[in-house]
Amino acid sequence: MNRNRAHFMSFDLVFFGGTGDLTWRKLMPALFQAFRHGKLPAGGRILAVARDEMSDERYREWLKERFREVDGSKRPNDEEFERFAALLHYRRMDLSQPEHYQRLKDWLDERSADTVVLYLATSPHLFTQICQQLGEAGLNHERVRVVLEKPLGHDLASAQEINAVVRSVFKESQAFRIDHYLGKPSVQNLSALRFGNALFEPLWRRESIANIQITLAEELGVGTRGAFYDGTGALRDMIQNHALQLLTMIAMEPPSTNDADAIRDEKLKVLRSLKPFTPESVARDVVRGQYRAGTVGGVAVPGYLDEAKVPAESHCETFVALRTEVQNWRWAGVPFYLRTGKRLAARDAQIVINFRPVPHPIFPGTNQANRLVIKLQPEDGLELQLLAAKGGAHGEALSPVSLDLDFDKAFATNRVGAYERLLLDAIAGRLNLFVRSDEQEQAWRWVEPILDAWKQDSTGPRPYTAGSWGPAAASALVARDGFHWSEEA
Ligand code: BG6
Repeated sequence: MNRNRAHFMSFDLVFFGGTGDLTWRKLMPALFQAFRHGKLPAGGRILAVARDEMSDERYREWLKERFREVDGSKRPNDEEFERFAALLHYRRMDLSQPEHYQRLKDWLDERSADTVVLYLATSPHLFTQICQQLGEAGLNHERVRVVLEKPLGHDLASAQEINAVVRSVFKESQAFRIDHYLGKPSVQNLSALRFGNALFEPLWRRESIANIQITLAEELGVGTRGAFYDGTGALRDMIQNHALQLLTMIAMEPPSTNDADAIRDEKLKVLRSLKPFTPESVARDVVRGQYRAGTVGGVAVPGYLDEAKVPAESHCETFVALRTEVQNWRWAGVPFYLRTGKRLAARDAQIVINFRPVPHPIFPGTNQANRLVIKLQPEDGLELQLLAAKGGAHGEALSPVSLDLDFDKAFATNRVGAYERLLLDAIAGRLNLFVRSDEQEQAWRWVEPILDAWKQDSTGPRPYTAGSWGPAAASALVARDGFHWSEEA
């Protein structure tokens, strides 16, 4: 009954930064998909706010133009766009002007929708100002939710500062911190795999698992984002949030319920159990790299230092590989390797669980073991590598064979994309896939000693050729434990 009610709930969704890249590249296309799939609750209004003066009509035309750049099957046809555009509105807003927030409030008060979602898709340095002004305008009442995009802070202190302001205006239950990796279908499936099946849980521990590898590899370089990226780097851009969130989903204890706080309590425990870095362990267990010119997908590409808006002497890392451990009974001694980079050999995001080999091998010549691969990109799926006899001569060595699960085929339906999922969840008030402030701060706390050690180390990142798998030191990091990255098999 609740579900039905939710479906007819009215909502107003406001995008601050309504003409920004994130809005037109990711958020509007995702909303359109939700609309097309009939998942967007009826009775919604979508309001974009930004600095430019534009009518609703002009904004709709502008967005229609932008949609031409959205990839094929996700692009609306004219008739679909017309129907979607009927939900779209635009207002000019100067974010420093209190009376503009008052005008926004008046617009929202015209009809007092059941839910008001305020999505801050602006540059993060505006977050505190916007939140304060929203509070002063009374736009923090119980029907309001605020969605915050990463990066949330630059380090622990700045993240705490933002969170303090957010907390002074909104309750934690009103704050939806986005990590879009949590919305990816495979990540939701990870929860289902672990806590909806009895099969894996008994094996999901140090006794059966040799090591875990999380790879978030991109073919793209920094493109036009040089100025932003150079002040950020791969550790802040991908490891502090996406990679660590994936790690928590793998390593967490089964939560007692499927409620947001039960899940987030368990994830926080994992973050608190991560082995802290020291200057010595950073030197030993963390590899940073920066791409040089090379070839990616058959195309010659420039090195990082030749990208637009990147300073010639930059020490910004475009690659990180690290080794860590989760220091608790379940995981003691099991290496977790995390790796991310731009301009790598493939767009490939996956989590590989390498099981231990059998304790007493009776078949000749095999040192292989079971492996579970949770694929996030380019396609989502699940692959379980088993060892099997091909048949034939007695005593033949075992060969690996894969049970390859393609969810698209299995469910024969359009999978819900990450932003679509997260926007729908924000509208429905479901916090499960959003990051709580204490998780986010703990992730910064863990990452900071790496940033500090790098500041002291003038040698800078190791060069790697675009189109490779990063510096050779990243392979050595894993080889030291007697393992290898999955593509090196
Ligand atoms: C973003 C990073 O959070 O994630 C980008 O800021 C990165 O640098 C992107 O390219 C990767 O996301 P996806 O979903 O394309 O793997």
